[in-house]
This record gives sequence, C-alpha cells and structure tokens, in this order.
Amino acid sequence: MLTMDELSKAVAGCTRCSLHLSRTNTVLGEGNPESKVMFVGEAPGADEDRLGRPFVGKAGQLLDKALNALNFYRDKNFYICNICKCRPENNRIPSDDEAEACLPYLRRQVVIVKPQIIVCLGATSAKYIIDKQARITAIRGKWIERKGYHIIATFHPAALLRDESKKRLFWEDLKKVKEKYDEIISADL
Ligand code: URA
Repeated sequence: MLTMDELSKAVAGCTRCSLHLSRTNTVLGEGNPESKVMFVGEAPGADEDRLGRPFVGKAGQLLDKALNALNFYRDKNFYICNICKCRPENNRIPSDDEAEACLPYLRRQVVIVKPQIIVCLGATSAKYIIDKQARITAIRGKWIERKGYHIIATFHPAALLRDESKKRLFWEDLKKVKEKYDEIISADL
C-alpha cells in the first residue's frame, strides 16, 4: 500500500487524463494526515495549480477563516484535498472521465488518513462521494453514514464569493462538523 509520500510522487507523474498536459503542479492535498476530518473540494484553481497546494486562493482563504473561527486548523485538525488533482483549464467542472480517472488517488488518501468525517465541498465533490444525482441544495447539511464514515456536504466556498446569502447555511454546516468532531474526540477520551 502506497504511503502519502509515494502517492504524492505517483500523482506528480500521473498521465491518466489529459489534464496533465496543461497543469503546472499537481495538488495532492495538505493538512494533518492523521486527522479525523477530511474536506474534499472539486479541483485546483489557478493559485493552487501555481503553488501545488489545495484551497490557497480566495475560496480557500474564506474556508480557512471560517474554520479557524471554529478552532479548526489545517496542520492540526483536518486534511484537505480535491476530487481532481490537476486544474481543469479555465476552472471548468472536471468531466466524468477526468474525475473517475482521479478517484483512485482520493480513495487511497481516505485509506491513509482514515477520517471519521468527510466533508464534501460543493456539488462536484458530493456527486462523486455521495450520489451521482445529488443536488447540493437538497443534500447539504444532512449527515449520511456510509461504510463507517460520517459524510456531509455543504456549499463550495467559491459559491459564497458569488452569493453571500449562502454564507449562513455554510456556517451552520461547518458548525455541525465541529459538533460531530467534538463528539468523536470526547468519545475517544
Ligand atoms: N476549488 C477547489 O475545489 N479546490 C481547490 O483546491 C481550490 C479551489
């Protein structure tokens, strides 16, 4: 079984779909690889592609700000990654083929990190993790128990930059994640 370092090397050399032709860097993920929470977004954007790190642009900064307000920090409490490890040009939604080609890497990350909570950020993440037909407005904020994982979806933070009215529900959803996290931590004591 590949370690996270080996996985990182495998992803860096990946040519499973044509996104490798236009990428600057692959973006595997970052955060605490032993944490109980994994956030999964869609795919890197321009900043992430340039730096090789997930959620470092405007949307990522908004997410970090909200999570930090709940005392959640990347290097300590969570791991964050994406469905696709390469940037689709012009930030288009990844195609089914691109997402499917990349999913084995996410599955391996889940096996390595062993999160108890998985948070889908946005419709693409919810589509590949929860349900192909899922509509984010219908499923967000509801816990799903599957294969021992507590899974929840919320809006993608980029959606909040376009529509401020989504912020309240996003915040409610993140608070649910924090509550579940606190429950799990206190049950472990
Ligand atoms: N949007 C995503 O879905 N992922 C990132 O890493 C950055 C922006």
